[in-house]
Amino acid sequence: MSLPMKATALAHPNIALVKYWGKRDDALILPHQSSLSLTLSPLSVTTTVEFGAASDQVELNGHTAKGSERDRVLRLLELVRAQAKADLGPAKVVSRGDFPMAAGLASSAAGFAALAVAGRAAAGLPSEPRAASILARMGSGSACRSVQGGFCEWQRGERPDGEDSFAVQRFDAAHWPDVRMVVAILDRGEKEVKSRDGMKLTVDTSPYYPAWVKDAEVEVVQVREHIARRDLQALGELCERNAWRMHATSFAANPPLSYMSPGTLALILHLKEQRKKGIPVWFTLDAGPNPVLLTDAAHEVAAEALARACGALDVIRCVPGGDAELKAEHLF
Ligand code: PMV
Repeated sequence: MSLPMKATALAHPNIALVKYWGKRDDALILPHQSSLSLTLSPLSVTTTVEFGAASDQVELNGHTAKGSERDRVLRLLELVRAQAKADLGPAKVVSRGDFPMAAGLASSAAGFAALAVAGRAAAGLPSEPRAASILARMGSGSACRSVQGGFCEWQRGERPDGEDSFAVQRFDAAHWPDVRMVVAILDRGEKEVKSRDGMKLTVDTSPYYPAWVKDAEVEVVQVREHIARRDLQALGELCERNAWRMHATSFAANPPLSYMSPGTLALILHLKEQRKKGIPVWFTLDAGPNPVLLTDAAHEVAAEALARACGALDVIRCVPGGDAELKAEHLF
C-alpha cells in the first residue's frame, strides 16, 4: 500500500474558559452545551501511529496501555480505518506527554487530538481540522478543542450523528499574545472521580443541571465578546463564575461530588484579596483540585508567587498555543 502508514503529531492541551460538563449522547460524546477554551503552550503530547504492525500495540508515557485506556485508543483508530475505507492492518501507537497526566490538566485532550491528527495522516486522509476535531471528540470530548490553537469553541451541534459537533477556532494564538494561564499543581495524584463519571452523575442527579446548560450557552457568546476586546477583567470574572457554576452542579449531585480540596478553596478565595491589591488574577478549575490562574504577562510572576505561597508544589506558566501539527520525526 502506498499510504504513508506512519505519522506523528504534536498537540497542546486546552483549558476551558466556559466548560463542557455533561453529555447528551455518551457513545458519540455529544455535549449538552457549547464550550470555549484556550490552547496552552508549551505543554504538549506527541503521538506516533503506524498501521500495518504485527499486532495492535499501545504505549502511553512508557507503559503498555491496558483495559479501557487501550480500548479508547484502538476504538478511535477503528474510526480512522472506516474513514479511509481501507484495511490498514493492526496499529502501533506510542504517545508521550511532557506534563503530569490525569491531574486535571486535560492531558487526554492533547493526547486524543494528537492521535486523531496522526491517525488520519498515517491512513493517507487529508489534513482537515473539522474531521480531525470530530474524531478527537470521539476519544475525549474536550480533545476536539485541541486540534487548533488559540481560542476554540466546541459547538454542541444539533444532529444526532454528531457531524455538526466539533470545535472551530474563534481567535488564533496571535490575537492575544499577552494572556497567561498559570497552572497551580496542588496535588500530583490522579483524580479520584474521572470527569466522564463525574459529569454523568451530575447530569443524572443534580437538580441544578438544567440551569447550568442554559447559562453556559449564553456565556459562550459573552466570552467571545470579552476575548474580541481583550478585556481581561470581564473574561476573568466570567471564567470564575463559570467554574463556580460547573462545580456547583456537582456539589448538588447525589451523592454530592467535590473536586475541590481544602487547598483549592484556600487558593481561589485568596485571589479576591490579591485583586484588591491590584493584581489582575482569576481562576478556572477542571475536574480536579488544581486551579489554573488567568492573568497577563505583566503579572505571571506574581501569580506564580501567590500560587506557591498557597501551597502549590509545582507551577507551570502557559501562553496561548498553536494548532496540532504533523512532525517529521517519529517516536519509534
Ligand atoms: O473531555 P473530558 O471527558 O476529559 O472532559 C473534560 C471536562 C472538563 O475538563 C472539566 C471541562 C472542559 O471543558 O474541558
